[in-house]
Amino acid sequence: LGQSIVYHETIDSTNTMAQKLALNGAPEGTLVIADEQTAGRGRRGRNWFSPPHSGVWMSLILRPQLPVAHAAQITLVTAVAMARALTRLTGVEAGIKWPNDILFDKRKCCGILTEMHAEFDQVHHLVLGIGINVNVPQEQFPEELQSIATSLQGVKGVPIPRAEVVRAVMEELEPLYRRYVDGGGFASIREDWKRSNITLGRQIVAQTARGPITGEALDIDEFGVLLVRREDGETEKIYSADILFA
Ligand code: BTN
Repeated sequence: LGQSIVYHETIDSTNTMAQKLALNGAPEGTLVIADEQTAGRGRRGRNWFSPPHSGVWMSLILRPQLPVAHAAQITLVTAVAMARALTRLTGVEAGIKWPNDILFDKRKCCGILTEMHAEFDQVHHLVLGIGINVNVPQEQFPEELQSIATSLQGVKGVPIPRAEVVRAVMEELEPLYRRYVDGGGFASIREDWKRSNITLGRQIVAQTARGPITGEALDIDEFGVLLVRREDGETEKIYSADILFA
């Protein structure tokens, strides 16, 4: 992975660019990196704050042979790799909030946006977008992010070269991805995800498209789906949501 790198100083979104390249046949492992995004995208149509030279804004093209139903697992695999990389870079333990936010003590430092192209029920390609706040001085975050965002520099106390961050991410991601696609499947990653997670065992509100679901986050199943025990004792499967801690 990352054998071929496409670099742009400024771009709208590395995910959008990677989608175009993937549709034009770019091979698995192609990595798109930018210093700045003018229209960085987050999950659920949000935008992603991507100021120049302050973060790692990158997208990786993957072509796993996977049924569509398994594709969401790749995001969880990536979250494990990201938690490891960010822990190693800062010396401070990073935690995963389901499905794939990486936090240091309740503040988000990294987000993952996986976009899929499918043909029938098989994955054609995936674009794995990774955004990491690296050297963002806390006062530079916009007002609405002040209390919920942090950067590696904020955690470690000193700036970290972005090239080092990209290297650490690729070093952690490659072996986990190989283990996942070369037969291990999600079963081989699930325990690692659980060890790094900060969601299970807690009272949460899952904001889903169907409305909020309140209860205790019990576990993730073999697909990576979150299981929540509602107050009435019923267990709900959560496929996609924003999680708030109650
Ligand atoms: C989220 O937590 O909402 C996901 C954020 C993903 C941001 C990254 S930055 C690189 C890539 N390009 C984008 O436009 N978004 C992802």
